[in-house]
Amino acid sequence: MKSWAMRRPTANLTIDDFMLRDMPPPEAGDGEILVETHYISLDPYLSRAMKSWKGEHPGWADGTIHGRIVGAVIESRFPGLSVGDRVIGIGRWQPVNAMPGQAVQLIAPDIDPPSLVLGALGRSGITAWVGLHLSGLKAGETILISAATGPVGSVAAQLAKARGCHVIGTAGGEAKCRHATDLLGYDACIDHGAADLEDRLKAAAGEGVDVLFENVGASSLDAALPLMRPRGRIMLCGLAQHYLTEDPMLLRNFKYLLYSELSLRAFITANYPDLFAPALEELRDGILSGRLLFEETIIDGLDNAADTFLAMLGGEGIGKRLIRL
Ligand SMILES: NC(=O)c1ccc[n+]([C@@H]2O[C@H](COP(=O)([O-])OP(=O)(O)OC[C@H]3O[C@@H](n4cnc5c(N)ncnc54)[C@H](OP(=O)(O)O)[C@@H]3O)[C@@H](O)[C@H]2O)c1
Repeated sequence: MKSWAMRRPTANLTIDDFMLRDMPPPEAGDGEILVETHYISLDPYLSRAMKSWKGEHPGWADGTIHGRIVGAVIESRFPGLSVGDRVIGIGRWQPVNAMPGQAVQLIAPDIDPPSLVLGALGRSGITAWVGLHLSGLKAGETILISAATGPVGSVAAQLAKARGCHVIGTAGGEAKCRHATDLLGYDACIDHGAADLEDRLKAAAGEGVDVLFENVGASSLDAALPLMRPRGRIMLCGLAQHYLTEDPMLLRNFKYLLYSELSLRAFITANYPDLFAPALEELRDGILSGRLLFEETIIDGLDNAADTFLAMLGGEGIGKRLIRL
């Protein structure tokens, strides 16, 4: 069976670092299930493990990629799960995985499509909710969100709008920006490649930015720092610009952290499990009522996984990027 792996640890990810190799089909041991892969989640955080061969899952030891998978149980040697159940778990990028039954979560029958648990009703949506919660965002404040149309940014924007905030974003290209204002509710969105980025951001920010929801780091963070209001809060959620290369630009505007008495708070969603239930309650309600728009860019075929992953890091696609098998 075909399975994706990394050739070796590497500093800067390119397609040559990935390989599709043959592995023996997995067998379910005691307490395990066999899961047929339906969706593979293309998550930016995987780049760190890809580059270093070290991830939370012990399987990363030999460079074999392990990420979030949604699929169906096709064999069960675990009492709590039956053939046909839809589950989410961590697995190899391959058509079938053996997983400990205890390590997967059952997907509720009313979740349609089931891939939602990889996006709005999974880590992306929860991350948006947790970041806003920790920022103390209040009605009437201005929030700036980078990677505005990605799965985290698009949910953060809609939640912030529902809280009565002025919401501005940055995204790669005018088409993404139009999408952000026309469909996701952004009051303004600016192409981060625009020559007059700083002027346009300044105009959109009005009296200044209270909360920066930072998904990119480097140039995006740098452009935002002078626009922050005194004692503004920066929520450092992600570092997309650092994922392909180990050599991103340094901050020219670092000094504004002091000049404007800014606070910068990094957060890792996994460390806030107590917030998952309230987050999911609001997200589920938003999705099921149709108030929360959530988009997916789906590419078919396991063979396309590495290319599509790199394209996602480079900015191709809108919303959650998924491989469907
Ligand atoms: N803290 C946590 O626990 C946690 C949990 C989940 C995700 N995250 C992080 O949250 C961020 C957003 O995640 P996501 O899943 O929604 O990913 P995403 O926004 O869909 O993907 C990353 C995006 O970053 C933008 N980007 C890449 N290089 C850039 C550059 N040089 N300059 C400006 N923008 C660039 C691209 O969008 P554009 O085309 O719009 O530029 C790209 O699509 C990621 O950094 C991720 O690692 C953190």
